[in-house]
Amino acid sequence: MTQQDILQKTVEYVKQEFSDDSSGHDWWHIYRVWKNAITISEHEKADSFVVQLAALLHDLDDWKFNKSEDETPLRAKAWMESCNVEPGIVDQVCEIIMHISYKGANVENKMKSIEGFIAQDADRLDAIGAIGIGRAFAYGGYKNRMMYDPDFPPQLHATFDQYKNSKSATINHFYEKLLLLKDMMNTPTAKRIARQRHEVMLKFLDQFMSEWEGKDIS
Ligand code: ADP
Ligand code: NI
Repeated sequence: MTQQDILQKTVEYVKQEFSDDSSGHDWWHIYRVWKNAITISEHEKADSFVVQLAALLHDLDDWKFNKSEDETPLRAKAWMESCNVEPGIVDQVCEIIMHISYKGANVENKMKSIEGFIAQDADRLDAIGAIGIGRAFAYGGYKNRMMYDPDFPPQLHATFDQYKNSKSATINHFYEKLLLLKDMMNTPTAKRIARQRHEVMLKFLDQFMSEWEGKDIS
């Protein structure tokens, strides 16, 4: 199989695996991350095959739906092996998937390769802006979270465990993660896109708080 064939087959596989997800990890999230990754790759010197495989397979073994934090992404690995992807590339992609996720505001980013930086930026871009707002509330609903609770302010988590176990309202997630992503982008292309998406979230929060207190009703 050529690399193009493998990517095509992977798209079909992932589409089918994510067909009925309502946690914010549906096929269209994967699709957007994949497209973002391709766009960013065009401005960087990187192995596009590795970037695209990582983007397409990055959520197949998500920590929120798996038990352990740092285990090898077994399903992604098995899939690549079934497509006869060379072992060196399988390892690179697995390494990226293991480190792609946001693990808390003050938790160190362990990503090392340019391919990983691109895949991570692509995923993070889909967590901000208008889509990011939509996904945050979709995820909050899926987890039975309050939309907003003024009695429980946001927290910046110092460990992955704290972040993982937090049950706070969806609006807090903006302060605990989404508004921090702009400054955590790795590549210049993603930094540029992030600035504009960040503004969209600030405007949204401003309006949300204004409506919460009825300040917009004059
Ligand atoms: P990603 O797919 O970018 O790795 P996650 O898997 O961490 O993102 O989360 C999936 C989506 O759900 C993202 O848009 C993320 O911002 C959102 N999300 C994650 N945790 C929360 C939360 N506690 N409250 C609201 N939204 C959340
Ligand atoms: Ni993702």
